[in-house]
Amino acid sequence: MKTPVTENICLSELLIDEIADALQQHGYIQLTEFLPAWLATQLQQEAERLSSISFKPAGIGRQNNLQLDTQIRTDTTLWLDGESLQQHAYLQCMEQLRVGLNRRLFMGLFDFECHFSHYAEGDFYRRHLDAFKGRSNRILSTVFYLNINWHKNDGGELLLYADDQQSPLLVVPPLFNSCIIFLSDVFPHEVLTSHGERYSIAGWYRLNNNSQVHLDPSQ
Ligand code: OGA
Ligand code: MN
Repeated sequence: MKTPVTENICLSELLIDEIADALQQHGYIQLTEFLPAWLATQLQQEAERLSSISFKPAGIGRQNNLQLDTQIRTDTTLWLDGESLQQHAYLQCMEQLRVGLNRRLFMGLFDFECHFSHYAEGDFYRRHLDAFKGRSNRILSTVFYLNINWHKNDGGELLLYADDQQSPLLVVPPLFNSCIIFLSDVFPHEVLTSHGERYSIAGWYRLNNNSQVHLDPSQ
């Protein structure tokens, strides 16, 4: 007998409706309790375990343009490859969201890439945009947070700005199992200096910019 294909459903259709509506109306959404608790816990443990072994100083730009700039960011990162069960499950959830958003908003999201980030005490990421209009294939940014017992004194909040405004539109505490999703070329943002250990998974849905003359590199 053929074994039934089991689809991994992490996100309810109602949640995807809510995300699609918010993105259409405001361009961003902040969510608490994003994933099943077991998955958030496994990802948290994996991030903590791998951070001292495999995380590398983060770069600005991509591939051969990669330059390290510790004036701008000081975190360390590791791209998810989907090899472990929890990474695979995370990528499946984000795939479900990709398909769900394309169905609802015709966004043409083509793929998703993401990395773990670790901010140790004193680390920050200065104000930046994840994409520049017409110059990048990053469409939608996601940050998923993995900090159990985060407290205000721990710092490391994400500030989201509207355009070139000085005061933030949104102050996002990096709370365990919460997530923020926003349009990559619309909202400048920064990570305030962390006063403790801070873990997250930052990811981007991308358009396909491949053509015969230029193969758009990932990561
Ligand atoms: C990024 C980023 C925000 C965060 O990695 O590009 O803006 O809260 N991260 O970790
Ligand atoms: Mn960013």
